Amino acid sequence: MKIGITNDHAAIELKKSIAGYLRDKGYEIVNYGTNKPEAFDYPIAAKALCKGIKDGEVELGIAICGTGVGISMACNKHKGIRACCCSEATSAKLSRQHNNANVICFGARIVSNELANDIVDAFINTPFSQGERHINRINMLKEIEDEQ
Ligand code: RB5
Repeated sequence: MKIGITNDHAAIELKKSIAGYLRDKGYEIVNYGTNKPEAFDYPIAAKALCKGIKDGEVELGIAICGTGVGISMACNKHKGIRACCCSEATSAKLSRQHNNANVICFGARIVSNELANDIVDAFINTPFSQGERHINRINMLKEIEDEQ
């Protein structure tokens, strides 16, 4: 599976840690974030990843800023993106099962490297349940997008 990862200036070290962790497991990782300490605004980091997903370059995305909040807000502005900001693995798992989330977000100032790995594992290894009620609700999200 090809996975995209993006980050602002607050999350360079955590991004590198997760990318290394996933590469060691055999995943192909595409970096859409910054590696420079200068300020890099999270909406720009989010936009690059979301384009990668919409263009089919990567299947799933990981987006990290200081808290995970700003970058998740930015990702969710993009049509077809369902981003989940969470700080534990259960929400990450259920965001795939119930919401078919395609981007997981968290904060480098909030979670440790080890917890981030657990969150990412839960996210990547859980398929969408394909349940009819969940499909209906995701279609309702699409309707909201189309109404904008
Ligand atoms: C950057 O200092 C910080 O505001 C950003 O990484 C993020 O936490 C915003 O939500």
